Amino acid sequence: MRVMVTGGAGFIGSHIVDLLVERGCRVLVVDNLSAGREDNLNPGAEFSDLDVCSRRIIPLVNKFKPEAVIHQAAQVSVPRSVESPFNDARVNILGTVNLLEACRLAGVRKMIYASSAAVYGEPEYLPVDEKHRLRPLSGYGLSKYTGERYLELYRQMYGLRYTVLRYANVYGPRQDARGEGGVVAKFIDRLQKGKPPLVFGDGRQTRDFVYVRDVAGANLAALSQGDDQVLNVGTGEPTGINKLAELLKDIAGCRGKVEYAPRRRGEIVHSCLANQRIKRHLSWQPRWNLEQGLKETYEAASKR
Ligand SMILES: NC(=O)c1ccc[n+]([C@@H]2O[C@H](COP(=O)([O-])OP(=O)(O)OC[C@H]3O[C@@H](n4cnc5c(N)ncnc54)[C@H](O)[C@@H]3O)[C@@H](O)[C@H]2O)c1
Repeated sequence: MRVMVTGGAGFIGSHIVDLLVERGCRVLVVDNLSAGREDNLNPGAEFSDLDVCSRRIIPLVNKFKPEAVIHQAAQVSVPRSVESPFNDARVNILGTVNLLEACRLAGVRKMIYASSAAVYGEPEYLPVDEKHRLRPLSGYGLSKYTGERYLELYRQMYGLRYTVLRYANVYGPRQDARGEGGVVAKFIDRLQKGKPPLVFGDGRQTRDFVYVRDVAGANLAALSQGDDQVLNVGTGEPTGINKLAELLKDIAGCRGKVEYAPRRRGEIVHSCLANQRIKRHLSWQPRWNLEQGLKETYEAASKR
């Protein structure tokens, strides 16, 4: 099978590419390396250093003729989407439209799209299922949601199939601790510098941590199942930030006390995604529990 992966030099995209290459797919990565790293690129995949907003994507897709496109490339930072909404909308909305046009013109069968729990906004109940009201609280949440609607439109107008995957908090090897890196990457970064985790707020906030290889597995399952579905990708299990800090301290053998800083404004307190639909439509379920995933992540970070 021929598959194009945008953002395949990034954290999640590179794990998807690894699985595809392992399964014998022919893979083309499109990434402008704005956040991704060359050393994340799988040598078994072809690579094009290109912005998803570039019109050159049209001849590229037409030449490669993928059966499916897995779209991970994005402006991924919530604060940056607030500081610079134009750039967020350019990459996340226009980049997606550009790619959809390229898919339509090349006769691609399906697009799998990385969306986010950010499309829901403040949860009205937990765990949040796919029927929950959509009220994004940032440019990022809105741009991801707009991308979803374009996928639906292209299905209606041109028959291009899709699966939307709304990720919870993804963690695992290769996540960048700088900038908007997730809390797991940031805690590990501090532990490796000999410092205990730094928690914003009282640490009682909860998140749904899903391991990156499980997320990659969901993308691969969507190649052959889940057509025209919108599916949460999460564990359905909330984890407190204090518990996360303690687990990582144990793994790292850190004896220092967790440090606290004032709560960040606008931060959602509890977030957790229901996963019944993805279980049903993709026969998917998380295979890594948090302790295993954290250990693997810590070990991988130690080797880097
Ligand atoms: N990490 C999470 O917890 C999480 C949660 C929800 C949704 N997501 C979504 O998953 C996807 C992957 O996120 P990630 O965490 O791997 O981030 P990442 O920054 O590691 O990966 C994004 C990749 O896209 C590339 N990219 C960015 N802009 C581009 C452009 N204009 N043209 C071509 N390439 C471009 C970057 O260089 C990078 O390699 C994103 O769409 C993100 O919105 C991530």
